[in-house]
Amino acid sequence: MIKKIGKFIVAGIIFMGVSAISVSAFAASGPALFRSQGCIACHTIDGQGGQVGPNLSHVGLQRSLSWIKTQIVTPGRHFAPGSQASINGQSFMAIMPNHKNMPASDVNILANYLESLK
Ligand code: HEC
Repeated sequence: MIKKIGKFIVAGIIFMGVSAISVSAFAASGPALFRSQGCIACHTIDGQGGQVGPNLSHVGLQRSLSWIKTQIVTPGRHFAPGSQASINGQSFMAIMPNHKNMPASDVNILANYLESLK
């Protein structure tokens, strides 16, 4: 009986350890989300990425955290879709897709990451 309980406890401890590792492995970082959410296809950070939208390497110098969150979720609130958006002296066709279905936690991680780029 005691042996059995011992095994049970050991198994529980191993399970907790493994789940702690996997939780930290899957908690997405800002740079990882920037890739997995497809932002990188249109935006460059530190020399990597597309040119369809503005370079975001220093976006935190000009935009606030809440502004960036709104831009991710509903870009149409800032730039009328299909219009010409003038950002840092460059002109872009405003075609950024909205991300209304992105979990709020991911929006927060991404926005905090971008706001930190100065
Ligand atoms: C299909 C291309 C495309 C994708 C994908 C895209 N964007 Fe954009 N993004 C743009 C364009 C074009 C603009 C210019 C304004 C607009 O379209 O709303 C823009 C503007 C921005 C801006 C404003 C920059 C500034 O200085 O004003 C931020 C921040 C931004 N995008 C973040 C993101 C993030 C984060 C993602 C991924 C979740 C993303 N974008 C996905 C094309 C894209």
